[in-house]
Amino acid sequence: MNHLIHLKHQDRIGWIGLGEMGYYMASNLQRYLASLHLNMIVWNRDPAKSAKLRHHGVHIAKSIEDLVAQSNIIFTSLANDAAVQEVYTQLIDLANQVEHPIIFVETSTIYPALATELQKQLAACPQKHTYLQCPVFGRPPVAKAAKLIWVTSGGDEKIIKKMCLYFTTMSKSIIHLNTKDVAKACNFKLIGNFFVVGTMELLAEGLTLAEKAEVDPQSILKFIEAFFPAPAWIEYSRKMVDGTAVVHKEDGFSVDLGLKDVGHMRQLALETGASLPTADLAYNHLKAVHDQGLGDMDWSSLINSLRSASKLPSMEETQLTKGEKQ
Ligand SMILES: NC(=O)c1ccc[n+]([C@@H]2O[C@H](COP(=O)([O-])OP(=O)(O)OC[C@H]3O[C@@H](n4cnc5c(N)ncnc54)[C@H](OP(=O)(O)O)[C@@H]3O)[C@@H](O)[C@H]2O)c1
Repeated sequence: MNHLIHLKHQDRIGWIGLGEMGYYMASNLQRYLASLHLNMIVWNRDPAKSAKLRHHGVHIAKSIEDLVAQSNIIFTSLANDAAVQEVYTQLIDLANQVEHPIIFVETSTIYPALATELQKQLAACPQKHTYLQCPVFGRPPVAKAAKLIWVTSGGDEKIIKKMCLYFTTMSKSIIHLNTKDVAKACNFKLIGNFFVVGTMELLAEGLTLAEKAEVDPQSILKFIEAFFPAPAWIEYSRKMVDGTAVVHKEDGFSVDLGLKDVGHMRQLALETGASLPTADLAYNHLKAVHDQGLGDMDWSSLINSLRSASKLPSMEETQLTKGEKQ
């Protein structure tokens, strides 16, 4: 670590995790930095994804160590708690050795206790690093359009205000929880995602009933657009009717990530003594899809579990039959 540089006033931004979300978020932030003749430094476990960002002008870190040495603000967007734990174990070790304080902005959906633990460990470093938990709402195309809903927690008002300069380059609105308690943002995110998965469960059940009762699904879509004109209702009902639910999760949210989130919701409900039966239903339906080896599919493919229980062919089979007829 003797090559670590002492950072002065200029912000040097590092980004770790360039998956479906991280790639678009980092691209939008980099676009803003480039307008100021600045460049961020990025690291991804699979280096091919970092290379894809090279044309945006980013520097590619040789290692996490390299990135920490050159950054005083580090964003992370990682798949799950295990990935966050693994990356932050390294980050905390390195953060203990640098001269400069670092602001960490963790944007993944993780269990609240993990966020609290990371905040505690980073605050205990002599440099008194700051840890913000800032989960985001919106799927990858929304991230690409810089229209995410951003949630803030941790730090103080001054830090959050300063960081909003960067958050706004990736989002259409920011919800400030006005709390240093980073667990609250994780709880918030899990509750928000509960509304999404609950909507999907309802749509999957209703659309399955429509098919069994021989009600034209296209007319159901028209009804949803007129009566429930909310993006999640419209988007997920279309996916389920078109069969695009069964496509690979690219530009979507995978069954496996969904299982992680719904698992966290159920755990939170257990810990707090809340009753959350819809999460149990959705979990079982997602798990059935996962158990068929389809954990990479978009999570709206949970409809297949209901179709199977209703003795209907899977969406894949329906799409194949449609294709053969055309
Ligand atoms: N997709 C959505 O619609 C959505 C919306 C809001 C929030 N989120 C949340 O945002 C986070 C990222 O989601 P995503 O859809 O971008 O997931 P993703 O496409 O699966 O990307 C996951 C990222 O985590 C990295 N990663 C996984 N395990 C790792 C490890 N052990 N060490 C280092 N890096 C590791 C991956 O690196 P590799 O490239 O090397 O695999 C990749 O960069 C998740 O917490 C998710 O719940 C997702």
